[in-house]
Amino acid sequence: MNTHQSTINTNQGEWAIEAEELVKTFGNHRAVDGVNLKVGAGTIYGVLGPNGAGKTTTISMLATLLRPDEGSARIFGHDVVKESHMVRQLIGLTGQYASVDESLSANENLMIFSRLLGLGRTEAKRKTAELLEEFGLIEAAKRPLKSFSGGMRRRLDLAASLIAQPPLIFLDEPTTGLDPRTRVQMWNTIRQLVRSGSTVLLTTQYLDEADQLADRVAVIDHGRVVAEGTVDHLKASLGTASLHLRIQEPLRIETARQIVEQILRTESSVSAEAGKITAPMANANITADLLIAFRSAGIDLAEMSVQKPTLDEVFLTITGQDASGNTSDTSQESQAVEELQV
Ligand SMILES: Nc1ncnc2c1ncn2[C@@H]1O[C@H](COP(=O)(O)OP(=O)(O)O)[C@@H](O)[C@H]1O
Ligand SMILES: [Mg+2]
Repeated sequence: MNTHQSTINTNQGEWAIEAEELVKTFGNHRAVDGVNLKVGAGTIYGVLGPNGAGKTTTISMLATLLRPDEGSARIFGHDVVKESHMVRQLIGLTGQYASVDESLSANENLMIFSRLLGLGRTEAKRKTAELLEEFGLIEAAKRPLKSFSGGMRRRLDLAASLIAQPPLIFLDEPTTGLDPRTRVQMWNTIRQLVRSGSTVLLTTQYLDEADQLADRVAVIDHGRVVAEGTVDHLKASLGTASLHLRIQEPLRIETARQIVEQILRTESSVSAEAGKITAPMANANITADLLIAFRSAGIDLAEMSVQKPTLDEVFLTITGQDASGNTSDTSQESQAVEELQV
């Protein structure tokens, strides 16, 4: 097993999160099985992993909602068990829409939260106006939540959690299920939060989301951190894209392979009987050159695709297992690794 652990820079100043060997067991299932994390203050940190990897359980322990069975964690130096009251004042946690009342408007919801958090009337009004503006909810502010889209609800939920301006914000899969446009808006909001001084820990199942947002990521699988580092570091071990193609006449596979290798300037792997070729691509734009070369050689394609490394490929490369935990056979595994290396 190959872990891409890299050294953590300890000259970064304050740690927003330090977790050591966190364990949480449900029945006889170790949902979190010895997680270590260090998140620098003022950064966006991504916890990347498939469904069931232990992401929510991990952040629930960090956010004092679940007590760890073993290990320890500190938020800005405060122990999550012994100083949970202090920790709760330093964090915001979103993903709990139940906290928002459907029949009230966005404006009313934020006013109520502000008052509950102890802000005076004038201060609550000011804060509400500021958040509605920041989250692009001004036009919708007076409408009841019933009429809100999924993206507007998430933004309101995030806004509500920010009334107290917590230094550390946990976002549990903030964009899962959102349409692409709303997803981009959410990303901008998250960047904005960090510019205004917060630290963000977000969980995601999507490599591209971690790529867009996170300074560093921990890849988590079966309750353990299997890789940690910058996204660039992670991607460098995977390549940026892979080419998959199938030609109509398998007999011409050798010519096709030569064209691919000449244009991509890389080795390819061939499955001759199926007429299939796969190869890593440093740059997806080169696809046009490839199509032209195939046409002038008179080779007809049956199928062609250029794919980003998926989370599945990340897992296959790192752990030799796909994201659902099935062990791949060795030939498949070495082929995938070869495909992904540039
Ligand atoms: N309250 C619970 N009781 C029993 N099992 C749980 C509970 N919460 C989570 N699990 C199990 O722990 C594992 C990790 O879950 P979770 O942390 O929610 O993963 P993720 O957020 O990465 O999808 C899963 O197998 C899940 O079924
Ligand atoms: Mg989860």
